Amino acid sequence: MTGRDWGFETRAIHAGQEPDPATGAVVTPVHLTSTYAQDAVGQHRGYEYSRTGNPTRHALERCLADLEGAAHGLAFSSGLAAEDAVLRLLAPGDHVVLSIDAYGGTYRLATRVHEPAGLRTTATDLTDLDAVAAAWSERTALLWVETPTNPRLDIVDIERLAAFARERGARCVVDNTFATPYLQQPLALGADIVVHSTTKYLGGHSDVVGGFVATSDDAIAERLAFLQNAVGAVPGPLDCYLVLRGIKTLAVRMDRHCENARAVAAALEAHPAVERVLWPGLERHPGHALATRQMRDYGGMVSFTLAGGEQAALAVAGGTELFTLAESLGAVESLIEHPGRMTHASVAGSPGAVDPALVRLSVGLERADDLVADLLQALDAV
Ligand SMILES: Cc1ncc(COP(=O)(O)O)c(C=O)c1O
Repeated sequence: MTGRDWGFETRAIHAGQEPDPATGAVVTPVHLTSTYAQDAVGQHRGYEYSRTGNPTRHALERCLADLEGAAHGLAFSSGLAAEDAVLRLLAPGDHVVLSIDAYGGTYRLATRVHEPAGLRTTATDLTDLDAVAAAWSERTALLWVETPTNPRLDIVDIERLAAFARERGARCVVDNTFATPYLQQPLALGADIVVHSTTKYLGGHSDVVGGFVATSDDAIAERLAFLQNAVGAVPGPLDCYLVLRGIKTLAVRMDRHCENARAVAAALEAHPAVERVLWPGLERHPGHALATRQMRDYGGMVSFTLAGGEQAALAVAGGTELFTLAESLGAVESLIEHPGRMTHASVAGSPGAVDPALVRLSVGLERADDLVADLLQALDAV
């Protein structure tokens, strides 16, 4: 794509996806091949082996890098594989400051895989700059931001924290899974690296697991490309195709996710069984003003606590019909879960342990009235 400064929706459909030069196929072909014929020894047409490079994967890498405003993008076999590659940029003895409210798998990867290999980590409240400063050490090399946070949906100031890290010679990485590049652009706010679980909103249909790293730093990208090939946690071409297809409708899906979340949050707020609704679109959410500055809209994730504690939370999580009781998020169908016992069970007993009265919703694209009715009948029953 050349010439005009095309808009997000246009780039989501066309970036990295020119019609196939061999056949004119409008849709990026799924290149199901492990290897490539070479014209002569040492002479190939850009591809040698599919762990190193695959044309379908490259189309995804170019498209998503473009949407993040990044010079480089690398696709991985899962969000955690992408995160693992980023953590492998560090050396033994290096220190990472991460959110106390980070995705449980990120915390597990950092503390139970990378700490035994010499990494040091501190989890703290990234909404509090004094807490970040207190957690900082001379060897802090990376600040790991996730916003909105999971599952409490706090909003972290990317611009401020990226500047804080840069002033101290460290890098800032943002997990942009919840917001997607449609709602939030971390690199434009000063972050060095963006990571994604493409399993979620980018894929958007609960049919693929994948991960992504975007950066405009040439040296970081070169090292990540080395790790992508040397470690080999790459996505298959069919998976890349599914994510590419999902991304084409990202903007319209995100608009509707946000609209439905708004209706759900309002209905939850009015119900007596609900103690507190955590959705950054609500004016009394502590991160509302920051989210209004930093994001295009407030996202499709809604968490809430039950006045009746854990038993009530478990009853609501198990009492819906349309909201499927399942882990994960970001797809067309609505999901409900109990983070304390499900997605965040791995942080039980740690500083990031989740309130047992909390329920998390991934609000999907069903009719808003139906979603609200389903939640109200589950709440009425507790
Ligand atoms: C915010 C966030 N980051 C990363 C991941 C990990 O991604 P994956 O499950 O694709 O490995 C998840 C998964 O739930 C997530 O919610």
